[in-house]
Order: sequence, then C-alpha cells, then structure tokens
Amino acid sequence: MRFRVLISGFGTVGRSLVRLLLDKKDLLNRRDYELSVVGVVDSKGCALKEGGFSLRELQAMLELPRSGVSTFGRYGYPGYTTVDALEALTPDILVEVTPSEYSLYSPALRHVEKALELGVHVVLANKAPLALMFRDIMMKAKKRDLQVKYKATVMAGTPVLDMIIYGLNVQAVCEVRGILNGTTNYILTLMHSKNMGFKEALRIAQEMGIAEADPSLDIEGWDPAAKLVILVNTITGGNLTVYDVEREPLWPGIESLMKSINMENAVIKYLCFAKIEDGKAEVLKVKPVALAPDDPLASVHKTYNGLLICTEPDNEIFVRGKGAGGEETAFAILSDILQIVDASR
Ligand SMILES: NC(=O)c1ccc[n+]([C@@H]2O[C@H](COP(=O)([O-])OP(=O)(O)OC[C@H]3O[C@@H](n4cnc5c(N)ncnc54)[C@H](OP(=O)(O)O)[C@@H]3O)[C@@H](O)[C@H]2O)c1
Repeated sequence: MRFRVLISGFGTVGRSLVRLLLDKKDLLNRRDYELSVVGVVDSKGCALKEGGFSLRELQAMLELPRSGVSTFGRYGYPGYTTVDALEALTPDILVEVTPSEYSLYSPALRHVEKALELGVHVVLANKAPLALMFRDIMMKAKKRDLQVKYKATVMAGTPVLDMIIYGLNVQAVCEVRGILNGTTNYILTLMHSKNMGFKEALRIAQEMGIAEADPSLDIEGWDPAAKLVILVNTITGGNLTVYDVEREPLWPGIESLMKSINMENAVIKYLCFAKIEDGKAEVLKVKPVALAPDDPLASVHKTYNGLLICTEPDNEIFVRGKGAGGEETAFAILSDILQIVDASR
C-alpha cells in the first residue's frame, strides 16, 4: 500500500523531516507499505511530483535556499499554496509545519480544514489549529474516519501526548503543571545561574539560535499557552482555545519578581498550570512562579521541558525531556505518520 505525503512548510522542521526520511530510508519502502513525499510547500510556492520524489531529488531539495522550493526544476509551481497542492494531489497525509499563528486567519487552519474536506489525514507540529479549533477539527476528522495526529505540538521530542492518549485513557487526570517552553526556560536558567538581567539573557539566547529574532510568542506566553490548551483539550476532549488561558507575560514582571523572592534557593520558572475537575478544566494559567528547590520542576533547566501530571488514585507522574529542535520534532512527526500508516493498513 502506498502513502503519499505532502509537507506544508519547508523551514527548520520541514527540512529536518526530509533529512530524517533520508536517514531512515528503510522505513520508506517496506514489503507491506511504501511512503513517498509527493509535494513540499513554502511561503512562495511548491514542488509537486504526482509519483513521489526520489531520494536523490529529496536530497537536492535540501540544497534549495529558504523560500526556494518552487524553483525546483520542472516540479516547481511558484505562487501555489498548500490548498492548491492539496487540491492538485489529494495526498494521503498532510504534514503541517508552517509557523504557528494564533488567529482565525491562520493559513494552517485553512490547510487542515481543506485536508479533512478532501479526505486527507493530518499530522501537525503547528500548534495553532488545535489551540484555536480543537473539538471542531477532531469532530470533522472523526466524521470522515480520518486521523489527526499532533505529538510534536507539546514537548516535541518527548512523547507525553501519547502517554496521555494511550496510557492515561482510564485514569482521571486532576492537574497538570509544567514547563512547556524551552526558550524562556533557557533565559530563566541564565538569569539564575549567571545572575544576568532579562535583556542580556535574551540576547544570548538569540545569538545561540534558541530564541527567535522576534521572541514575542515565547515571552508573551502564547506558545506555552497553546501547548497547555492542546494538553488539556486532549485530556478532557474540551474545546478551550489559547484565549481561555490566563496568560502573564514573562517580561517585564520577571525582573522585579527575581528581586522580590525571599525563599532560600527558590527558582523562578515560567509555569503552565491547569486544574481539572469532573473532566472539565477549572483553571488554566501561564505565569512566572517561584518554586521551592525540591519541586521536581525546579530541576528542569536550559531548553528542557518538564511536566507533572496528577492522576487518580493519588499518583504524580513526572516527565522531563526535550521540547523542541528540528530533529526531535521530525522524530515525533515520523512516529505519527507511521501510526497513521499502521492504522490504515
Ligand atoms: N522548530 C521547532 O523546534 C519546533 C518544535 C515543535 C513545533 N514546532 C512548530 O512547527 C512549525 C514549523 O516550525 P519551524 O521551526 O520549522 O518554522 P520555520 O523554520 O519558520 O519554517 C516555516 C516554514 O513554513 C513556510 N511557510 C510560511 N507560511 C507559509 C504558508 N502560508 N504556506 C506554506 N508554507 C509557509 C516557510 O516558508 P519560507 O521558507 O518561504 O519562509 C518555512 O518554510 C511551527 O508551527 C512551530 O511552532 C517547531
């Protein structure tokens, strides 16, 4: 059986996914299935090949500059969008890795809606569609017997969503508390360990490529709020959006909070928090909080993420691991693709 994949977005994650597919080429052609990339889209156009790109062609595509896929010889289509590519090819799986934009005008929302309308399964690293329209997307997918997988959206390289979906499908979860944004955790780690001010720590994080040139999605808390909403909607089947989260930006409050803490060895972390009662989220917050040094989350440093999940009967599960990175995210996406392949054969 052949599975045709369209990749929407060819930046850090899209390119890492293609690199991973080349590294794991034994996964592409198995006796019982074949996986092929039939299209790649960026902001300026796309490259499409109905029969699927060869490994050599995929390798050559990695040499293209940013915004360059539509210059890929006779396969290039300047000005074509993901919607055009979906309509032209009707692939089996759409991988959505364009930037996360938290507005109802987000192109990714249109991509996901069009994919489901055309009967295409979806794998997301882009958080926006599920942070805006979780239940709607899941219901549309269910109605059409399609799968929407999104392991890469929360803690990227650490499969915490699989643990919740498959491992905690019976136990009630009553609370989640975590560090879900690696960029701000890195900044806070520098502020604590090197006694730096916020702006200096941010500058270093930017120089190291850990923070974006425009870091507002991280520092204003949109990124962790989106992850919290996806996590909680997964647990409750709810329909919360990123706008339902009480969100306190990390800056400018962080510097005065740093000065005011009087707990010995306290560590400030940018925490996501949700309380869940009778299957409903009662409180959803993202804010900087001073933690006692023996709190498990106080030992999550640098770009690492951590999550504490309280479940019945009186259990506390602690997960720590990488929360971002092109390669880590690509692994999560490929794992989701293979789960779709396995369920469809
Ligand atoms: N990076 C990570 O570690 C990580 C981890 C987990 C989740 N994510 C999520 O994964 C997604 C991709 O992240 P990234 O780091 O790969 O971003 P990125 O490097 O900025 O790449 C984004 C890609 O999307 C393309 N693009 C932008 N608008 C588009 C549109 N309307 N239609 C088609 N393509 C479009 C860009 O085109 P150009 O090349 O022309 O600019 C670029 O190729 C984001 O939603 C992010 O939140 C990222």
